Amino acid sequence: MTKRQTKKQNQNSAAVLWRFLRGSKAYFILGVTFAVIGSLFELIIPRITGYTVDSVIGQGDGKISSFAANIINRLGGAEALRDNLFVVALAIATLGLLAALCKYLFRVSNAKGAETLVKNMHNMIFAHIQSLPFSWHMKNRTGDIIQRCTSDTNTVKRFVADQLTTVVRATIRLGLSLAFMISTNAKLSIIPIVIIPIIIGYSTYFHNRIAKHFLTCDENEGILSNIAQENLTGVRVVRAFGRENYEKEKFATQNKKYTGLWIRLLKFLTAYWASGDLVTGLLVMLVLVFGTKMCVAGSMTQGDLIAFISYNAMIIWPVRMLGRVISEMSKAGVSIKRIAYIIESKEEKDPENALTPAMTGDVKFEKVSFGYDEEHELLHEIDLTIKSGTTCGILGTTGSGKSTLVHLLDRLYPLPSGRITVGGMDIAEMKASHLRKNIAVVLQEPFLFSGTIKENIAMGLPDYLAEKEVDRRIEEAIDIACLRETIESFDKGLETFVGERGVTLSGGQKQRLAIARTVVQNAPIMVFDDSLSAVDTETDAKIRNALLKKMKGTTSIIISHRITTLMHADQIVVLDHGRIAESGKHEELLKQNGLYARIYAIQSMKEGEDA
Ligand SMILES: Nc1ncnc2c1ncn2[C@@H]1O[C@H](COP(=O)(O)OP(=O)(O)OP(=O)(O)O)[C@@H](O)[C@H]1O
Ligand SMILES: [Mg+2]
Repeated sequence: MTKRQTKKQNQNSAAVLWRFLRGSKAYFILGVTFAVIGSLFELIIPRITGYTVDSVIGQGDGKISSFAANIINRLGGAEALRDNLFVVALAIATLGLLAALCKYLFRVSNAKGAETLVKNMHNMIFAHIQSLPFSWHMKNRTGDIIQRCTSDTNTVKRFVADQLTTVVRATIRLGLSLAFMISTNAKLSIIPIVIIPIIIGYSTYFHNRIAKHFLTCDENEGILSNIAQENLTGVRVVRAFGRENYEKEKFATQNKKYTGLWIRLLKFLTAYWASGDLVTGLLVMLVLVFGTKMCVAGSMTQGDLIAFISYNAMIIWPVRMLGRVISEMSKAGVSIKRIAYIIESKEEKDPENALTPAMTGDVKFEKVSFGYDEEHELLHEIDLTIKSGTTCGILGTTGSGKSTLVHLLDRLYPLPSGRITVGGMDIAEMKASHLRKNIAVVLQEPFLFSGTIKENIAMGLPDYLAEKEVDRRIEEAIDIACLRETIESFDKGLETFVGERGVTLSGGQKQRLAIARTVVQNAPIMVFDDSLSAVDTETDAKIRNALLKKMKGTTSIIISHRITTLMHADQIVVLDHGRIAESGKHEELLKQNGLYARIYAIQSMKEGEDA
């Protein structure tokens, strides 16, 4: 990657982060303000200690602000304090209390900011993922996306709520402490002024080196969670093929690799921490040695030395924090980039002035060629007209591109060449939501959401329908999909829960539920992608007859490997290796004595045997 690209990427990450911060920024700013005020209260305490040592215990002139001097004079000067030491104690206790209150307010504001930030991030990312094109989802692994949405958003939260606020807080506290130190003894301040940049510089150098190790760890965590996720969703396949041990080993190997990477990273971090300790120890030592020397020589009061040592102890926290936080921030950069990848992926956009025509005309594929990648063309110059209101059956060997044809009709992928029209209008110029609402598809692999049967069927219904109409359509769809008996066999009927932790439906029941869900849509174009493969021939015929009655005037496409499912269609197309090999009515195709006739012969022979 060139420097310019890296710069651009960093700018993008910052812009994405800025967008996420909408609504939570104010909390963080408020929090940091409280923290700074709290630091100021704390920083006054060593001054009081110093003054007490010099003026109350000793007889000298302790450093004190004119404001405090005024108060002390009113109380009767240092002598009066000597008799009433509780006043000093009270002052210190009050400052301590105020500092604690500020710390509390800082934490509350910061926590509110952090949670608001996470909420916004989750909402924005989820909404964006919903708008991404289908092809994006096909390209990206689910486990990886989930990791970006969970552990990466968490890292970003920590980055802003812990690290960024700490950097601001620590820097301001460091600056203030140094100011107090310089005002206490400018000469002695040279020691921290020289050593602090060395500590911070060292940690910055270190953080640059460690960034790539964090990236490797993250990538490997993604692979690990992907294995786990695949095993959870594919648990049936794992059991059916007795792959438990293989999967266990695969997981263990990856887990070992992941652990090894973290151990290596932690070794780096530990070395850094240990060497950092050495340098801060050096700072304390030098201040003590030179401060004591100055006291003995009389160029510094004892009270000032005590105050100075207190300030020195106070800067160690921010300096060490800065070192740690800067090294952790490298991880956040990676996470923000990983989230930015999602947020900046191009949404599926409708063309300008997208059309929403009536979808009742002929469906036409004109010289449609397509491949999932550029090198391998899958469909070659498909020309197909499906007259409005007719049924087109599609038969073809597996992998010949039947489902792909449906994806293209639904505009899930852009067409590289050729066009698809409905009623003469190019689908590329239509609004995607309009197109998909009007083309009801029963997918080859139906996916049911966790919810009741009723909820799953009603998914296909528009929102504006009255409840009565909803029920009527659902009942009608249940009859068409031959689902009544199944539903009645469940205790809770339509309210039976399906999907995760609900009743598990059989393959055929699932398919019929998917058909019902599609039928309720009343769409002018219907597609059944191998949707009756898991039901017996008799139910298949029943459903088809019911559909035929209901679908009068609907343009439909039925994809199937079973000729009996297709033979009554107005037109049958045989797809072979992405080309239309034959087309016509059932009898015509039989006469052609080609692929269709051969498949028919095999299937009728088999049925004869079965009978
Ligand atoms: N998302 C995808 N990315 C890349 N290749 C794909 C994708 N989906 C399908 N393919 C490939 O495209 C080819 C055609 O797939 P398609 O699903 O259209 O076949 P099909 O005719 O519906 O087969 P079947 O009868 O088995 O359902 C197959 O070789 C398949 O591997
Ligand atoms: Mg298919």
